[in-house]
Amino acid sequence: MQNQPSLSISHLYLVVETMQRRNGALFGSLYYCVVLCLIAIVNAEDPYRFFTWNVTYGDIYPMGIRQQGILINGQFPGPEIYSVTNDNLIINVFNNLPEPFLISWNGIQQRRNSYVDGVYGTTCPIPSGQNFTYKLQVKDQIGSFYYFPSLGFQKAAGGFGAIKILSRPRIPVPFSDPADDYSILIGDWYTTNHTRLEKIMDLGWRLPFPDGVLINGRGDGGVTYNVEQGKTYRLRISNVGLQNTLNFRIAGHTMTLVEVEGTHTVQTSLSSLDVHVGQSYSVLVTADQPPQDYYIAVSSRFTSQTLNTTAVLRYANSGKPVSGTPPPPPDNDISWSLNQARSIRTNLTASGPRPNPQGSYHYGQINITRTIKITGSAAIIDRKQRYHVNGVSFTAADTPLKLADYFNISGVFKVGSIPDEPTNNAPYLNTSVMGADFRAFIEIVFENKENIIQSWHLDGYNFFVVGMDEGRWSETSRNTYNLVDAVSRCTVQVYPKSWTAIYLGLDNVGMWNIRNEFWVRQYLGEQFYLRVYSPVMSSRDEYPLPQNALLCGRAVGKSS
Ligand SMILES: *[C@@H]1O[C@H](CO)[C@@H](O)[C@H](O)[C@H]1NC(C)=O
Ligand SMILES: *[C@@H]1O[C@H](CO)[C@@H](O)[C@H](O)[C@H]1NC(C)=O
Ligand SMILES: *[C@@H]1O[C@H](CO)[C@@H](O)[C@H](O)[C@H]1NC(C)=O
Ligand SMILES: *[C@@H]1O[C@H](CO)[C@@H](O)[C@H](O)[C@H]1NC(C)=O
Ligand SMILES: *[C@@H]1O[C@H](CO)[C@@H](O)[C@H](O)[C@H]1NC(C)=O
Ligand SMILES: *[C@@H]1O[C@H](CO)[C@@H](O)[C@H](O)[C@H]1NC(C)=O
Ligand SMILES: *[C@@H]1O[C@H](CO)[C@@H](O)[C@H](O)[C@H]1NC(C)=O
Ligand SMILES: *[C@@H]1O[C@H](CO)[C@@H](O)[C@H](O)[C@H]1NC(C)=O
Repeated sequence: MQNQPSLSISHLYLVVETMQRRNGALFGSLYYCVVLCLIAIVNAEDPYRFFTWNVTYGDIYPMGIRQQGILINGQFPGPEIYSVTNDNLIINVFNNLPEPFLISWNGIQQRRNSYVDGVYGTTCPIPSGQNFTYKLQVKDQIGSFYYFPSLGFQKAAGGFGAIKILSRPRIPVPFSDPADDYSILIGDWYTTNHTRLEKIMDLGWRLPFPDGVLINGRGDGGVTYNVEQGKTYRLRISNVGLQNTLNFRIAGHTMTLVEVEGTHTVQTSLSSLDVHVGQSYSVLVTADQPPQDYYIAVSSRFTSQTLNTTAVLRYANSGKPVSGTPPPPPDNDISWSLNQARSIRTNLTASGPRPNPQGSYHYGQINITRTIKITGSAAIIDRKQRYHVNGVSFTAADTPLKLADYFNISGVFKVGSIPDEPTNNAPYLNTSVMGADFRAFIEIVFENKENIIQSWHLDGYNFFVVGMDEGRWSETSRNTYNLVDAVSRCTVQVYPKSWTAIYLGLDNVGMWNIRNEFWVRQYLGEQFYLRVYSPVMSSRDEYPLPQNALLCGRAVGKSS
């Protein structure tokens, strides 16, 4: 019963795509309309999944010390969201914290609906003691993602969880069904609580280094994954931490990379995997070793201090507990990691969320209409430690930017308050919003002049990672771009004193956060919003404000 609409959609795409190929561009738009109209009808039948979440503080002991964690339905990490492409997710969140709470959905594109993106600039927080129902659709998406609390430093207290989006039943996946499918949330962790961390940053001081690394909310040796010999398992690994790149590996086993943030990759064998903060990957692991326990080891990378932790891979009928030392990480070598990143390619013949091959969208043949250069850096502003993008350190206004836009409230932000390139001006504070045209196809070059690794995330979009290298970017760097099978994802690392270039098709109208996932830097201004604008105010391009939207700041009392 629930499969019915999925079947009809995939069938429809096949029919329409075949017809488009036969008839050429002349009838393309007509069929486009036919597709849209039919989807509009079918859409209403996409399955619904309902969730009720109770958000509270509760005692957790991830590193043996009692801490106040943010729990969802008593759990830390929060419950996993299991879904299938195009599912509607109706999530009623009761905020029983003594402070406002807001959830964002890392990697969920919120097509035409930035109102529900759940970041400061798009969505009002849920006041303490109230509830709010997020209505999301995982439209045209597959893959591994996660949700997290986006306000302040709440992410350092928990409130995060995994999101899985499976392919619809009739759409082929380029590997056999795994025996099980585990979400593994890894991240660095402080034993100091988030309000204390916020206070330190608000005073303009630097935060200490994190205290440890957690695997699914547990400290060293705290989690066991059960496997049976001869079977193959999918592990979805997300780095939900605050700053550190983490290397993931399993003693005695290799991993096969199969998916990166919604893209099926060319399947390559890895002995270990660097997961930068904010990123998600799927690997397959076959239990092909003698039945015993094996270390799963996670270590921080590229910093003078190394944080390590372990979990356990336990075979059924295991004859031996883990012993000895966990497998070491690779050398702290940028070029090792850079080479691994460059080796990740899209499997062009595999299906994505739709039955057509991922390679049928020829991103390398589309002309670029604009180049944006982004440099995130540190600066002291008004005698406080701040971070900025192209000289502008983001500060929140009193009203979500998307609501100010919707209700035409002036004076909240100004489009163009951040330049397209770094400048030589002294860094300053502002509510930075960059304007961009709906349907433009742009290039963004992230340039990192610092000694630390950066990890940039775009809300609302996946983009093609066309190039990355050490040194300075120049126009001739374009000659090295991968214009054929670059991976499409939503979070990308920029190595120290290096650059990363992406191609981005702006097909999603809305107000979208672009941020460094290094959470201190995000908190202290290394972020901005991209306002993707269409002069044609059409619900085909952007949905109206959700009827249940909370209103706050200067939007209080407005009606749509
Ligand atoms: C949420 O959890 C708290 C603490 O366990 C409990 O007091 C409260 O009744 C729960 N609320 C809902 C709506 O379940
Ligand atoms: C709050 O929860 C109730 C159900 O307990 C629901 O009827 C109501 O729509 C929710 N409020 C919001 C704003 O989502
Ligand atoms: C790519 O996907 C195709 C189609 O599902 C599959 O047959 C093939 O094994 C995959 N190739 C690699 C190298 O992953
Ligand atoms: C954080 O710790 C401070 C003491 O250092 C305490 O006053 C505060 O209530 C704690 N906050 C939370 C949310 O646990
Ligand atoms: C973490 O592991 C690495 C490599 O095994 C080791 O060099 C380092 O001393 C460990 N660090 C800690 C804090 O245990
Ligand atoms: C892209 O630009 C090139 C040269 O500037 C031009 O010849 C070509 O027609 C353009 N392609 C498209 C699809 O606009
Ligand atoms: C905001 O202004 C635009 C253009 O002037 C107008 O079309 C729209 O209806 C206004 N929105 C509201 C909520 O007043
Ligand atoms: C941001 O810059 C604009 C000019 O572009 C200025 O009018 C405004 O006051 C600045 N806002 C803040 C918060 O400094």
